[in-house]
Amino acid sequence: MPITYKTAADIEGMRLAGRLASEVLDYLTPHIEPGVTTEALDQLAHHYIVNHQGAIPAPLNYCPPGYTPYPKSICTSVNHTVCHGIPNAKPLKKGDVLNVDITVIKDGWHGDTSRMFVVGEASIAAKRLCQLTYEAMWRGIRMVRPGRRLGDIGHAIQTFAESQGYSVVREFCGHGIGRGFHEDPQVLHYGRPGTGESLEPGMTFTIEPMINAGRRDIRETGDGWTIVTKDRSLSAQWEHTVLVTPEGYEVLTVSAQSPAEPAPSTT
Ligand code: MF3
Ligand code: CO
Ligand code: CO
Repeated sequence: MPITYKTAADIEGMRLAGRLASEVLDYLTPHIEPGVTTEALDQLAHHYIVNHQGAIPAPLNYCPPGYTPYPKSICTSVNHTVCHGIPNAKPLKKGDVLNVDITVIKDGWHGDTSRMFVVGEASIAAKRLCQLTYEAMWRGIRMVRPGRRLGDIGHAIQTFAESQGYSVVREFCGHGIGRGFHEDPQVLHYGRPGTGESLEPGMTFTIEPMINAGRRDIRETGDGWTIVTKDRSLSAQWEHTVLVTPEGYEVLTVSAQSPAEPAPSTT
């Protein structure tokens, strides 16, 4: 699918879809505690999206070529799960860290965002991985402006993550988004500055780095979707949908409880 450039009216639609996706995370946050199952979170989110937001959970029955239909409405990726974790009946326990990834369709437009959550108290190592992955995403976002290239985003994320002793998952990437869930371009979370597609106003895409505490290698578990780290090290991910504006960027997946942007660092 070619890159689509959004008009002012398209952007209004993307803003609404983005805010709704983020509001699902706000809504789920108080429910993420020891004893709750990810299946229960899925049911809460499904009901909220369909009945309260009048929107559609994009993952449900999503079926890209070579995949089986995704069976749930959200993705919940716990501990060493990298992405696409399928909600299940196992209760969360104190010390777990998980990514909750929400994609909604509103009036035909997609909003895609994810955050990390810690259940009760997490280890210092787990909290550090979550925090630094958040900063890695923001270092990518801050590269966005017309004339910059996709490789600038990937490079900013990779150099930061690797400087902290972490590794970047290569097999999954950010993506163009709009009327389609996964549009061109692919937004790699590694790369060389000054390479790749030039950013232009009206482009909308996600930035969603998956960062591992150990090695970058991954494997699929056999259910057709769930991706885990080969070495079973912890993995973290954050995701925003962003718009390229004439001046720089606008984050579209924002809501009342979006975590604050980290302070710009001088390094
Ligand atoms: N939301 C994921 C992304 O960021 C895609 C999930 S596909 C699903 O691109 F089918 F697993 F939901
Ligand atoms: Co995405
Ligand atoms: Co997502």
